[in-house]
Amino acid sequence: MAGLEKALVPQPCTLIIFGGSGDLSRRKLLPALYNLALDGHLPAGFEVIGFARSEMDDAKYRSFACEAVQKFSRRPYDAAHWAEFERALHYQTASFDDPKSYQALKSRLDEIEARGATLGNRIFYLAIPPSFIGLCARQLKEAGLVHPAKGAEQFSRIIVEKPLGHDLESARKINDELAHVFDESQIYRIDHYLGKETVQNILVMRFGNSIFEPLWDEKHIDHVQITVAEEEGVGTRAGYYEEAGALRDIVQNHILQLLCMVAMEPPYVMDPEVIRSHKLEVLRCLRPFTPQDVERYVVRAQYSAGFCRGLPVVGYRQEKCLKIDSTTETYVALRTFVDNWRWAGVPFYLRTGKRMAKRATEITVQFKNVPRVLFNVDATNPLEPNVLAIRIQPDEGISLRISAKLTGARVRIYPVKMDFRYGTTFGADATPEAYERLILDVMAGDPTLFMRRDEVEAAWQWIDLVQEAWQQKAPERLPEYAAGTWGPPEADRLIESDGRRWRTL
Ligand SMILES: NC(=O)c1ccc[n+]([C@@H]2O[C@H](COP(=O)([O-])OP(=O)(O)OC[C@H]3O[C@@H](n4cnc5c(N)ncnc54)[C@H](OP(=O)(O)O)[C@@H]3O)[C@@H](O)[C@H]2O)c1
Repeated sequence: MAGLEKALVPQPCTLIIFGGSGDLSRRKLLPALYNLALDGHLPAGFEVIGFARSEMDDAKYRSFACEAVQKFSRRPYDAAHWAEFERALHYQTASFDDPKSYQALKSRLDEIEARGATLGNRIFYLAIPPSFIGLCARQLKEAGLVHPAKGAEQFSRIIVEKPLGHDLESARKINDELAHVFDESQIYRIDHYLGKETVQNILVMRFGNSIFEPLWDEKHIDHVQITVAEEEGVGTRAGYYEEAGALRDIVQNHILQLLCMVAMEPPYVMDPEVIRSHKLEVLRCLRPFTPQDVERYVVRAQYSAGFCRGLPVVGYRQEKCLKIDSTTETYVALRTFVDNWRWAGVPFYLRTGKRMAKRATEITVQFKNVPRVLFNVDATNPLEPNVLAIRIQPDEGISLRISAKLTGARVRIYPVKMDFRYGTTFGADATPEAYERLILDVMAGDPTLFMRRDEVEAAWQWIDLVQEAWQQKAPERLPEYAAGTWGPPEADRLIESDGRRWRTL
């Protein structure tokens, strides 16, 4: 994986943020850049141009960015460092469909590049709704702003955000539009989960230790659970969410990427194409859903009124700007299988929801129980099986549940936990935000942690089977779960009918 075997060398460049005034820029991108500057990771020649609709000049954009950093930065704001950093920030007011905006961008780039420090390299970060991706790529090409992938001394790269489309067809269309302008090697499709330390650590844990991999198969693993639980409701993104729903918003990208990291075969080299091809193989082995499977093994639901951190909150359909008869799912739980030699018959239970009891993302690998002899003969009180829990957020870390003997003359067995926490071991603020890592990788030209076109399309192909089955059987109401709980009883029944239960997080 990038950075694990070779040092990252971010190249000088100008980062042009389409949507530089938007929510993602404010909460994630600008704070990530500031932290990279604080840690001394940015290349010597580095400039930013915010490119969006709001009327702003450089000075106003700098104060916008300053507020964002003060509110959302991982490391505390520091006035002296800020003064140095803000000189790199520029802003160009734009209308994405207006060629004049791209001419204005060209002039700004000419000005910056004439100084020489950025070496003429350009990274276009499209922090914009996916419906604009094709248009912006086309306009960039028409304005002559994109260097070819081969034969130019400077590079041009483009970063696009998830979700890439809303089904296979729309994803293909966006990918085609991108491919008209950029070579696949210039395209970086972000799933920020892959930038999280713990996610990268999955491969180190699996292949950098000798004790896990021999047990990593259907002979030893009973099942795997992946949970992405959010405490928040839809917040200010109601319009987007109503069209997307939990399956498209979280399962299609974050959860399937986590599943790939857990289930992939050992790569023979830490090469981006090898890793991505191994992940693709997992996606292609996911058992396709029939409409009957969807009915039996996929649960969708919506949150109703309840509590969040002790305060009353409204239900999904009562959220501002949403239809009272909306049937968009805010929760999904499903059971699937990776139909290959290693994972034959091992269920993967996936679940995600908004307004759940707490914010928690975790992968749980439950091993098969010991035989019913010796310490495990009491059928009414079986031993707890070993569980390896990989916590992605919060409190990133890994724990292993093992059975231990309680002190005393009698043999009484108790499950105990061996626990590793990133924060405790490496320092609370030592863990970079995912976006910091990913932006650096793009500057260094390392696509390992980004999704290749075929991966994104394979994921949509599988997700579409569920969406299609849902469309054929559109209910008037979805099952509900109260805000602040762990989901509907239907989801418990899904796993309990297999004799298992969701892990308490
Ligand atoms: N926000 C998140 O936490 C988050 C997380 C993961 C992925 N994403 C993805 O990131 C992308 C951006 O999300 P976001 O939440 O930042 O959206 P947003 O807050 O709505 O921002 C959209 C940006 O695009 C600009 N814009 C829209 N239409 C324009 C036009 N015709 N001409 C020029 N500028 C235009 C807006 O400019 P003005 O505001 O100046 O009008 C704004 O800067 C989306 O694909 C989203 O799915 C977001």
